[in-house]
Amino acid sequence: MNKTPDTNEHVEWFRNSAPYIHAHRGKTVVVLFGGEAVENDCFPHLINDIALLGSLGVRLVLVHGARPQIERQLETLDIKTRFVDGLRITTTDAMPGVEQAAGQVRMTIESQLSMGLPNTPMAYASVRVVSGNFVTAQPYGIRDGIDYCQTGNVRNVDAEAIEKQLNLGNVVLASPIGYSPTGEIFNLRAEDVATDIAIALHADKLIFVMETVGVINDRGELLHQLNLPQAEQWSRNHGQSNKKISKQEVRDTQSHLDNAAQACRGGVRRVHLISRNIDGALLLELYTRDGVGTLVTADYYEGLRTATIDDIGGILELIMPLEKQGALVKRSREQLELDIRNFTVIERDGMIIACAALFCFEHEKACELACLAVHPDYQEHGRGNELMQHIEWQARKQHMDEMYTLTTQTMHWFLERGFVESNPDDLPMKKKELYNYQRKSKVLRKHLE
Ligand SMILES: CC(C)(COP(=O)(O)OP(=O)(O)OC[C@H]1O[C@@H](n2cnc3c(N)ncnc32)[C@H](O)[C@@H]1OP(=O)(O)O)[C@@H](O)C(=O)NCCC(=O)NCCS
Repeated sequence: MNKTPDTNEHVEWFRNSAPYIHAHRGKTVVVLFGGEAVENDCFPHLINDIALLGSLGVRLVLVHGARPQIERQLETLDIKTRFVDGLRITTTDAMPGVEQAAGQVRMTIESQLSMGLPNTPMAYASVRVVSGNFVTAQPYGIRDGIDYCQTGNVRNVDAEAIEKQLNLGNVVLASPIGYSPTGEIFNLRAEDVATDIAIALHADKLIFVMETVGVINDRGELLHQLNLPQAEQWSRNHGQSNKKISKQEVRDTQSHLDNAAQACRGGVRRVHLISRNIDGALLLELYTRDGVGTLVTADYYEGLRTATIDDIGGILELIMPLEKQGALVKRSREQLELDIRNFTVIERDGMIIACAALFCFEHEKACELACLAVHPDYQEHGRGNELMQHIEWQARKQHMDEMYTLTTQTMHWFLERGFVESNPDDLPMKKKELYNYQRKSKVLRKHLE
C-alpha cells in the first residue's frame, strides 16, 4: 500500500484518537476556564477546541470566570473591594461592576463560539450556545463577623433545564452569577458553579483549565493521576512545602483540588486539571493516551500502586487459587519477595484484589507482563484493563519496544487488547531459557509505539 509520509502521520494520529472519540461521544463534560483565559491571545484556539469537542458528540457545559475583568471594571468605577480567604466581598456598590464584567465576558465567549468564517477551524461549526438562570444562589452570609454582602454560593442547579438544552445539541454557558428567589443577583466563585453543575448533572467529567502549570510534586514533576485521598493529602500538606511553584500557584492548585475532591465525593468519577498554557491541552487530555494534565479519580476505597513487601500475603492469597487452576504459573513466596518491586497491585479496603508484574529485559528493549490477576469477585469491571494499561505505561517509560505475555487460558482477552500471537523463539533470551514447554503457554506480543 502506498502512503506518503504526511498521510501516514495524519492517518496514524487520527486512528490513534479513534478509541477516545468513541469513548467520549455522548458523555457530559463540564469545562471551567477563568477570565484570564478569555483575554489571552490563545483563547480562539480554546474556542476552536471546544467547538470540535461538540462536533465529536461531547455534551458540553462551559463555565467561565471573570476575575481580571471584574478587577478592571471596579478600578474604572473607582470601587475598592476586599478579599477574605480568596473570596471577594461584593458590596452593593460593587455589584453593577461585577454584572457588567461577567456579562461582557459571556458575550465575548458567545461571539467567539458564533464564528464560522470559511478557511478557519470554526467553518461549519454552527455552535448553538444557551445561557440562562440555571443556578439559584443564596448569600454567603456573615462569617466571623464579616458580611460578604452580594457574594453568594450555589443553592441549587436546575439540572433538568440544562439536560434539555444538552439533549437539543446546545452548548450551555454558565457565568459566575446566580439569582435568588428574592430576585437578587449574587457574585459566585466560578469553580463552585462548575463543581455544583457537574454534581447535579452526574457529569462524566469535570475539567478545570487552570492558570498554573498543573499539580506537581516536590521535585517539580507533573502528577498524572491522583485518587481522592491523594488529592486531599496534596491540598493538606504537600502544597505548603512545595518549593517548585509560587505561593499563589500553590493556593490556586489547592483550591482546584478541593473542588475536584468535592466533585468526586459528589459522584463525578473523573476530574481533569489541565494547564491553560499548553496549546491544545483540552484535546491532548481527552484524545491521547497519556494526556497532559492531572486526573483526579473518585476511587476512594480503591487505589493502584506499586507493591511493597507487606503485600506478599495478599498477593499470594489472590494468585494461589489461580495457580491451582493452571491459569498462572506457580511462584514461591521467596521468588515473590525478590520480585516484589516489579508488582503493581490494586488495593480495595485493605485487600489486594488485583495484581500484575512487569519484567524488563533492557538489552532487548523487551519486557514481560506477568501474573496479571483480578480477584473473581471484582472481575469484569475494567480492572484487568486498567492494570494492563498501567504496566504498558511503565514499560514505555522504560523505553521498551515489545511487550510479551504468556497465557494458557486468557489468550483472547489479550488479543482483544492489541496483542498478537507470537512464539517462544521470539521471547527475550532470559525468558526463553525459562520457557516451560510442557505448560504449552501461548506466547503473545504487543508492539509498544
Ligand atoms: C484476565 C483477567 C485479568 C481480566 O480481568 P478483568 O478485571 O475481569 O478484566 P476487564 O474487566 O478489563 O475485562 C473484562 C472483559 O474480558 C472478558 N474476559 C474475561 N476473561 C476472559 C478470557 N479468559 N478470555 C477472553 N475474554 C475474557 C470478559 O468477558 C469481559 O468482556 P466484556 O468487556 O466484553 O464484557 C481476569 O479474568 C483474571 O484474573 N483471570 C485469571 C488470571 C489469568 O488468566 N491471567 C492472565 C495470565 S497472565
